[in-house]
Parts: sequence; C-alpha cells; structure tokens
Amino acid sequence: MVASQTSSAGVNTIHVSAKEVTVAYGPVVALDGFTADIPRGIVGLLGPNGAGKSTFIKACLGLLSLDRGAISVGGFDSQAQSLLIRDRVGYMPEHDCLIQSVNAVELVSHLGMISGMISLDAMQRCHEVLDFVGIGEERYRPIKSYSTGMKQKIKLAQAIIHDPELLFLDEPTSGMDPQGREELLDLVKKMASSEKTIIVSSHILQDVERVCDYAVIIDSGRLVKSGDMRALLAGEEGVRSISVRGDAPSLQRYVKALEKLCRIIDKKDDVVGQLTLLVRGCEDGRLVFRLAAENGVQMRRFHPERLDLEEVFLRAFRGGGRDGH
Ligand SMILES: Nc1ncnc2c1ncn2[C@@H]1O[C@H](COP(=O)(O)OP(=O)(O)OP(=O)(O)O)[C@@H](O)[C@H]1O
Ligand SMILES: [Mg+2]
Repeated sequence: MVASQTSSAGVNTIHVSAKEVTVAYGPVVALDGFTADIPRGIVGLLGPNGAGKSTFIKACLGLLSLDRGAISVGGFDSQAQSLLIRDRVGYMPEHDCLIQSVNAVELVSHLGMISGMISLDAMQRCHEVLDFVGIGEERYRPIKSYSTGMKQKIKLAQAIIHDPELLFLDEPTSGMDPQGREELLDLVKKMASSEKTIIVSSHILQDVERVCDYAVIIDSGRLVKSGDMRALLAGEEGVRSISVRGDAPSLQRYVKALEKLCRIIDKKDDVVGQLTLLVRGCEDGRLVFRLAAENGVQMRRFHPERLDLEEVFLRAFRGGGRDGH
C-alpha cells in the first residue's frame, strides 16, 4: 500500500503534493515554482502544449531531478525515494515506447517481470490486463502491425500489470478516434472505481470533463487553477443564465427592461430568435419572468450559471471571469 497523508479531518485526501517545484532543461524552464495538492480520484492535468504536464509526471516518478522544491507521491519523496514510488505506481508514457518486433503478450509479460513478478504470475496477469483493455487474439501479432488505438491500449496494459494503486496516464487518448477515446476513457473510469488514483494529462478538455473528479490547470510551468470538477464547473456565485425566445424587437425591449433590473454581463445569440444572457443581481426570478411576459418573449431557461471546462480554461487564462471576477 502506498503511504498516504491524512488531513486534519482524518480523511485521506492529498495523494501527490508539489511544493515550489522548478525543473529546467538547460535554459528551458519547464516547471517554474509549480505548487499543487492533488487528491485521490481521477485527476486531470490540463494545459496547452509545452505547459509542463509531462515534465511534472516524470518529476513525480523521479525520472527527472528537481532544481528546486519537492514532490511527495503517496507520502514518499520523489527524489530520495523514487524507487519506492516506482514500485507502487503505473506509468503510461506520452510517446511511443513499445518494442515493435515482439507481440503484446511477450512485451507486457516481460514488463511484468521487470516490475518484480515471477514468470508464471506475469503471464497470467498479462492475459488478464490484455483482456481488460480489449486486446483479443491480436495479442499474438507483432506490435508493429497495431493501430494507434491498439498501441495506446498496450501502453495502458503495461502500466497496470502490477496492479498499482496510483497511475499516471500521459495523454492516453492521443491519436485515437472518437470511439477509441470513449473506450479508453471507460477503462479509466472502471479502474478508478476500484479505488485507484489516476492522474491523466490531456489537452482534450471534453475527455477530462467526462472522467475527472478534479482538475489541475497548468501553464508555463505554473499552477493556473485547480479544484474539484463540480466546483470548477459551477460558475460564479450570483450569476444566472437566462434564455429567451421571441422576435427581434421583443427581444430588444426585453433586454432594455432587464437592464433596469440587473446587470447584464454577457449576451449571446444562440440561434435565430433565441438569446442567452448572463446576469448578475437577478435574485428574484418572478420579476425576470414577469418582464418576459410583459415584453412578449418566451422564457426558455433561467438557472444559476453552469460552465463547461473550456470556459473554465479560458477564464483561467484570462486571469479571472468576465469583468474581473
Ligand atoms: N528533453 C527536453 N529537452 C529540452 N526541453 C524540453 C525537454 N522536454 C520538454 N522540454 C520543454 O519543456 C517544456 C515543457 O514540456 P512538457 O513536455 O513537459 O510539456 P507538456 O505540457 O507535456 O506538453 P504537450 O502537451 O505538448 O505534451 C516545453 O517548453 C518543452 O519544449
Ligand atoms: Mg506532454
């Protein structure tokens, strides 16, 4: 079992913790004072190309040394105790790392033995994990004949052969078609339900939104924002979304009337004849509905603001919400 840190509430929460971590490749500073606490569950590591996601994962595994700061993985120090960490985690690297001339059974069972299993156990477990990721009889074909999706599945299988408690998946859906992505994300969900912590780096926001409980947004080697997915997507306190339908003059009249009641902070034409407004200060829904009736528009929706991860991401990079919130 990986040792874990316990919060004052007595609940195991933080699994990986980075404090002021700096990692440079010569003159390129990939992590620049990166600080984050990562809880258990499925955690998305998000950021644009070159943000430092893969560097952070490699630093957690002790594959890179830190220029400054410290990382704790399940209570172990990434620098001083990297072998203890590597015994306990699985790693699916971003780039192709498979030996092309062997078949999946040979490769995955061999990697099982490297991680300390005896030959018989490694072979048995190899077939289990290949079944789990959905590789059938193709497992006896050389890896060079595999599609990108199959290769990604083999990379996942080798990461889980020793049943680690913590998994790092670096861009697991990279290069896969929508159906392949769905399948792989379903596997991630399944693994998480067996109490594993899974840290998934990705720049595909829909993937992260679909499977992750928590997100860490990173850019230029620094933490931009992190939080529970539900809280991140909840939108700003006191901001509501109103969608109304009507002809252009009625919609115009409605907006004018609404402006007297509350502050309109965003306005979007969804489709012809439908308008969505983001407003602040419209606590009394009855007034909003009454104005709609008085101005001849049909109320379609009125609810607290909800975001998608793309909007969270954009706002994090803009340095706040609209009008500075
Ligand atoms: N081996 C290396 N030598 C020099 N610079 C590197 C090396 N690896 C990464 N970098 C640089 O470090 C920065 C962070 O790279 P990293 O691979 O960690 O980003 P990333 O967020 O994983 O990006 P991507 O989404 O493209 O995978 C980038 O500027 C990258 O060019
Ligand atoms: Mg990367």
